[in-house]
Amino acid sequence: MQLLVLIIGFGIAIAGYVHPEQIHLSWTEEINQMRATWVTYLNAPPHAAYRPILCGNVPSPSNFTYIGGDTKKFQEGPHFWQNQYIHTTVFENLLPECWYEYKVSNLGSWSKTYLFNGRTPDTSQTFRDVNNSFTLIVFGDWGTGPIGQYTKHLLGEETLTRDYLGILHMGDIAYDLDDEDGKVGDDYLNMIQPIAATYPYMTVPGNHEKADNFTQYINRFNMPNNGVNQGTSFFYSFNLGPAHFIMYNTNPYFKNTSQASADLQTQWLANDLAIANSQRSIRPWIIVLAHHPLYCSQDWFEEGSQTDCGEQPAVIKPILEDLWYNNSVDLALQAHLHNYERDAAIYKNQTIPSQYDGQNIHINPNAPIYIVSGNAGNNHGHNDPASTTPQPWARYLSNDYGYGRLTVYNQTHLFWEQFSAVALTEIDYVWIIKDQPRYKPVLS
Ligand SMILES: [Fe+2]
Repeated sequence: MQLLVLIIGFGIAIAGYVHPEQIHLSWTEEINQMRATWVTYLNAPPHAAYRPILCGNVPSPSNFTYIGGDTKKFQEGPHFWQNQYIHTTVFENLLPECWYEYKVSNLGSWSKTYLFNGRTPDTSQTFRDVNNSFTLIVFGDWGTGPIGQYTKHLLGEETLTRDYLGILHMGDIAYDLDDEDGKVGDDYLNMIQPIAATYPYMTVPGNHEKADNFTQYINRFNMPNNGVNQGTSFFYSFNLGPAHFIMYNTNPYFKNTSQASADLQTQWLANDLAIANSQRSIRPWIIVLAHHPLYCSQDWFEEGSQTDCGEQPAVIKPILEDLWYNNSVDLALQAHLHNYERDAAIYKNQTIPSQYDGQNIHINPNAPIYIVSGNAGNNHGHNDPASTTPQPWARYLSNDYGYGRLTVYNQTHLFWEQFSAVALTEIDYVWIIKDQPRYKPVLS
């Protein structure tokens, strides 16, 4: 009897170390693929199973396809015994009209079953889905602390009840991935598992991912490898419907970083934008996303006094603003400041008139529109309150914790909404409408 109890106890202990956790999805560099990433604390071979269950509106019963995966050992803390095993597998040959169910396992310990949508981006330049609308969730600065729970609950509800296609997290993840020898990173990825195991969770690094040369970020996330980024997940782009999205890393532009890595990314940005512009007649929208903002009102009048909104835009604007303007970028989404601010079209610190501007609409804008949505719930509270002296180009500001939804309706209509996860309501929106692929630069 004692032996049986011992064997059962040992089995339970082992199961705890090989049960998949921290499951999250991401799009890959290939069309019609989805990558799953998860963690165990013993090295056990990974497996996964997936099958379509609904295609169009038609149930699609079929057998599971069973696949293996890859495993790497990651030492998440400073001590040699602080190891975890990060597993990945790729679901292939997906059909955009289908929903799939999947589960992952190690040593026969299966996760629960999750769903995902088979519509994926196209990182090549082929044309697909240009007429089908979609919505993405967008935010920055989200952690495990008390104020991060608002977004956890509202986005968790939205994941269960509404239909979106993916999540774009513009840096500052977990606060911080490496804290408590990586435990905070583990807790965060477990916190978001119900959301990120269902919808692809796409990231770029913020300043809070800098520790140990971004080791935690590079190991825990698997973003599309475009060759130039060397598998770091630092910068990449993808096409989705009539829009081209560029996710990039602002960290290399600040002090104590490699000029070579800054130049590498800037050159890649220029090349990527040139290619995107060559496709502009069919894919007219170009949207850029990163952590540090080029524009924000907070503390603007203290520029040069070490404030984040004064000093940091002053560094990156000279490098990036003309790249955005000359390539007719439509929308620049930003984070880092722990508030929400939607601005008008801006170039060289001036409001640039559109063909028509209203409080919540711009028709044929002539410069990039800038938005800060960095308030998903950091661990510091309202330490970056929205400016009480907003710039003339600011259109709406809020301190409410929450996140944005970006809906690309078609080649002419883009819709942005910001939700308060505290008040459980939409607090701001803007339509961006255009009937020409590129805007006409008005300043030089
Ligand atoms: Fe930040």
